[in-house]
Amino acid sequence: MRLAVAGKGGAGKTTISATAARLTARTGRRVVAIDGDANPNLAVALGLAPMADSRIQALPPSLVSRRLGGAGLIAPLDDMLDRFALPAPDGVRLLAMGAPAHADEGCLCSAHAVVSAVLEDLGAHPDWFTVVDMEASPEHLSRGTIRHADVVCLVAEPYYRSLETVRRMAALAAELPVARIVVVANKVRSAGDGEAIAEFCDRHGFELVGSVPWCDGVAAADRARQAVIDVPGTEPVTVAVAGICEALGIPVAV
Ligand SMILES: Nc1ncnc2c1ncn2[C@@H]1O[C@H](COP(=O)(O)OP(=O)(O)O)[C@@H](O)[C@H]1O
Ligand SMILES: [Mg+2]
Repeated sequence: MRLAVAGKGGAGKTTISATAARLTARTGRRVVAIDGDANPNLAVALGLAPMADSRIQALPPSLVSRRLGGAGLIAPLDDMLDRFALPAPDGVRLLAMGAPAHADEGCLCSAHAVVSAVLEDLGAHPDWFTVVDMEASPEHLSRGTIRHADVVCLVAEPYYRSLETVRRMAALAAELPVARIVVVANKVRSAGDGEAIAEFCDRHGFELVGSVPWCDGVAAADRARQAVIDVPGTEPVTVAVAGICEALGIPVAV
């Protein structure tokens, strides 16, 4: 199962992606977490020490060749994982999309093509769990980077601009051959927050698969540069993400 997590900046994509990856890896399943943000921060959210960043080798453009029908990986997936995946807590394997090294460098077309090719080949392992933590811009959708995802999860905060982003991204995702598009509510502080997101989903015919409460411990984990799942006091978030995974058919162990 390949899950792509999208939404407005700050909606909670990285927090939810990392927690879902850790919870699933605890079942002993193979889990690949792809940091698809050109401004990466999934490593720390997974619980890797901040200095792990220097050990992450971003996926190089040379991994793909252009062939009829799109870009494809030139080497077996397992070789690529052995070379580039950084081991993270609970056995998660972290891959990072190429990020710009310099100002004025140009576009990220090849970096997106590599992620797309990796996702395509991960389709040969339906029993694995892959999560792609996307950047805030709709580029992964407009470029079709996540065309090989099985599910696109749009993270919504209970305020208009976040919901508007979800509406726009859902329209783009619907044009990709992705089987299921779902919405997850995050930072829900009150019944009114939850109702606003539920009403929005009803109005647009979106499938709301779960709701993650606001939790002060998430910011505390962030400041301590720790994974939410490792910090006491964040259990309501972990439990909510576990429920979302289960609703998507992804087994977890809390
Ligand atoms: N459920 C939550 N409760 C409280 N704060 C949250 C929650 N989810 C995310 N946050 C905070 O919101 C900010 C953005 O979260 P992040 O996961 O980095 O979002 P994104 O990846 O969508 O930009 C972080 O400071 C994070 O700690
Ligand atoms: Mg993020």
